[in-house]
Amino acid sequence: MQAQEAKLDEIIVKWKRDRSYLIEMLQDVQEHYRYIPQQVARQLATELDVPLNRIFHIATFYQGFSLQPRGKYPVAVCTGTACHVKGGTRILENIMRDLELEQEGQATPDGLFSVESVRCLGCCGLAPVVTVGGEVYGDTSSVKMIKILQRQKKKKQAS
Ligand code: FES
Repeated sequence: MQAQEAKLDEIIVKWKRDRSYLIEMLQDVQEHYRYIPQQVARQLATELDVPLNRIFHIATFYQGFSLQPRGKYPVAVCTGTACHVKGGTRILENIMRDLELEQEGQATPDGLFSVESVRCLGCCGLAPVVTVGGEVYGDTSSVKMIKILQRQKKKKQAS
C-alpha cells in the first residue's frame, strides 16, 4: 500500500507543475494501477485543484483509460470496418466466451486478461487484427487467438 502511495506521489510531483498534462498524468496512473481507481481520481482532483468530473470525463472518453481493473495483458480486438468484414466481431465474441467474460473491460478472475473492442488499430491491411499486451496479431482467427491466450496462460502458470 505504501509503495502504491509513493508511486502516486511520484506521478503527481512529475506532472503537477502544469495541469495541461492531465492526460499524461492519467496515462501514468493507468499504467501503474491498470485502471483509474476512484480514490486516486479524487486525490488528483484535490491535489491539482481540478474538477473531479473533468478527470472522469477524460477517463471515460479515451479508450486507453478504464475505471475498472484491466488484465495484465489487455486484449484489444479490432472491430473497425476492415476487421469486421473479416470476422473481427466474431473473434471478439469467441474470445469473450472462451475466457468466460460477460462484459468488455472486465478482467479474468486470475487478472491475466481483459478484452475490449477497438475501432481501428491502424493496420487494416493485416485484418482481422488483435493485440495482446500490445503485441499485434494480424490475419488472425478465433482459433488462433484462443490458442495464443491459452499458451500465455500456461506460460504464466509455469513461471
Ligand atoms: S479496421 Fe482493424 S486495423 Fe483498421
